[in-house]
Amino acid sequence: MPAVTAHAPAKSILFGEHAVVYGRPAIAIPVFERQSTTYILANPRGQTGEVTIEAPNIGLNSSLGALDPSHPFRIAISRTQQAVGAASIPACHIRVVSTIPIASGLGSGASIAVSLARAFSLFLGHPLKDEQVSAIAFEVDKVYHGTPSGIDNSVIAFGKPIYFIKDQPFTLLAPASPLDFLIADTGVRSSTRKMVLGLRERWQQEHAKYDKFFEVIESIVVQARASIEEGDPGNLGDLMNQNHFLLQDLGVSHPMLDQLTETAVTAGALGAKLSGAGGGGNMIALVEPDRSDAVDAALRAAGAVEVIHTRVKAGKG
Ligand code: MEV
Repeated sequence: MPAVTAHAPAKSILFGEHAVVYGRPAIAIPVFERQSTTYILANPRGQTGEVTIEAPNIGLNSSLGALDPSHPFRIAISRTQQAVGAASIPACHIRVVSTIPIASGLGSGASIAVSLARAFSLFLGHPLKDEQVSAIAFEVDKVYHGTPSGIDNSVIAFGKPIYFIKDQPFTLLAPASPLDFLIADTGVRSSTRKMVLGLRERWQQEHAKYDKFFEVIESIVVQARASIEEGDPGNLGDLMNQNHFLLQDLGVSHPMLDQLTETAVTAGALGAKLSGAGGGGNMIALVEPDRSDAVDAALRAAGAVEVIHTRVKAGKG
């Protein structure tokens, strides 16, 4: 049997992270400059069910059976096997590699689950559709995040900019003009689960206060969608700044995220905000192409450990 390979991109949340867990809309984009890849090679000399798995980024090299049943790789593989209805697994070796930093707000876990489910279903001879692969990555995320909204697995599996509301079919966004972003890493690792749980505790203590913040974020996301679809990058940048201040109010920013967003705007970005769960990880800035290098240099000088340049194309991708 031939070898199979599948990829999945990283993601960045443009608007509405955290509020999306409470039923408000959010906007996310795929980031193809970073990705995870799964390779699967059949082992003709092995016995049925003999599966080995290797993930050099996390120092993993094991037989599948030796992994804890709650290990994300095991969940992704067993859900994929169920989804394709395969009674057994031919002997094989799985190799998972990723260029997405872990615990940094770029969806590394969901991306790996998507590439794994994609490659494994292909290997079993029944390639799954994007929505099936997305559902498998959602199951994996639930074990790790507790209460994920589903935005990460959706944007990564479909690989298109989306306007997303939890438990509803999402809408593909069609930007009126290309949008250029810089995504800068604080180098501070942060757990999504911890950030989401921390906010839940604060919300439980002061419902009215946090619901008001979520309501304002919702109105920003609705306006951001219009700015994207109508081609108003200046307004989009202002809305990113406003969303960042509200994320500070929610208590999910970090001094380094505040520093980098301020640096980006001072260096000429149209707007900037933290992206993802916060508490560290990455921020995202909207830039005009001719300011991109200057903003990149300013971010690095301010301590960003990595800066990714990504462009969202005009139209429905
Ligand atoms: C994580 O990428 C985004 C959060 O809103 C969590 C979620 O939506 O599941 C913080």
